[in-house]
Amino acid sequence: MDIQIPDDVLTKVKGKVIVLTGGAQGIGGTLVKMAYTAGAHLFVGDWDVEKGEALAASLRADKDASANGGSVTFQRVDVTDYKSQLALFEAAITAHGHIDTAVPFAAAGEPRGFFEPDALTVESLQTEPTAIRDRLELNVLSVVYFCRIALAYMRNPDPEDAQRAADAKAPMPRSIVLISSLAGIGENPGVPVYNTSKHAIMGLLRSFAPYTPVRYNVRVNAMCPSATNTRMIDSITGAWVAAGLPLNEPEHVAQFILLCAVDEQRNGNAIYISGGKGVDVEEGYLQTMPQWMGQQHTTELAATRVFSGLGDGWV
Ligand SMILES: NC(=O)c1ccc[n+]([C@@H]2O[C@H](COP(=O)([O-])OP(=O)(O)OC[C@H]3O[C@@H](n4cnc5c(N)ncnc54)[C@H](O)[C@@H]3O)[C@@H](O)[C@H]2O)c1
Repeated sequence: MDIQIPDDVLTKVKGKVIVLTGGAQGIGGTLVKMAYTAGAHLFVGDWDVEKGEALAASLRADKDASANGGSVTFQRVDVTDYKSQLALFEAAITAHGHIDTAVPFAAAGEPRGFFEPDALTVESLQTEPTAIRDRLELNVLSVVYFCRIALAYMRNPDPEDAQRAADAKAPMPRSIVLISSLAGIGENPGVPVYNTSKHAIMGLLRSFAPYTPVRYNVRVNAMCPSATNTRMIDSITGAWVAAGLPLNEPEHVAQFILLCAVDEQRNGNAIYISGGKGVDVEEGYLQTMPQWMGQQHTTELAATRVFSGLGDGWV
């Protein structure tokens, strides 16, 4: 069932402290504009300093956009540099004492020249394909680090209070919104490293969703956008549209992220967004399990989850 965006989402964004990487342009840049205009306080990290500073300056100079009291701080961040991600969070904590929402946008597409038949020869194996490792570091490892830093700053300091609040289903204002993709839901032949990266983000969502609300009072949701009109997909946008396939605008994705930021009960969603419409694929995945896995396996899997609990027994 399509998720409807309530009219009051932007009103509720006012005053929120939002930390994000990859916010100099693209979907992240659009979210910065929307949330700033709504009156949020944004801490934006990106390694494109020129674009990031230009975006921040243009917002500050725009009287209409500034009317709701928003603020924006841009910092140079290379997400593969742990300390620079940490410094972005520290800036937000120093200024506001807390963080409401954290969104790790920064990522890049497939490193080309490794799995194409012309490139993948026995001779090519003599050179370690370090660009693959670097891309996984950017798309996966930096996101895991980002989430760990975010949880430390966003957590309810008392674990017992956190558990009581979660058991009572109390509203949870703080959340992480992960950025997966259509490529996190199914197969994408030809982009194996990107496909792997975005499936990894789904692993993070599924690991965190039952865990972080109870342990830390922090919700976690994920976006799974289909093709979205940014420079990342410049090379295919024309053909995509010509084939009659629905294209998202960055605003479409940003509004679902803001919905997850302000809906204090929403947790564990993976929102597939196509042509501006969004649906939670995790709901369907869980509900239809007996159909594609069989009832016996589903029942046994449910029992393993009860046995595993919150994973305290694993360590
Ligand atoms: N555009 C799409 O069709 C689409 C679809 C699904 C998911 N996504 C995901 O959405 C997110 C945003 O993508 P986008 O389309 O806005 O791309 P984009 O290229 O427009 O923006 C990505 C931003 O990340 C920054 N960045 C890259 N490497 C960085 C690093 N090491 N440190 C700091 N910043 C870095 C870039 O400078 C850029 O500003 C990505 O996670 C992407 O995988 C995009």
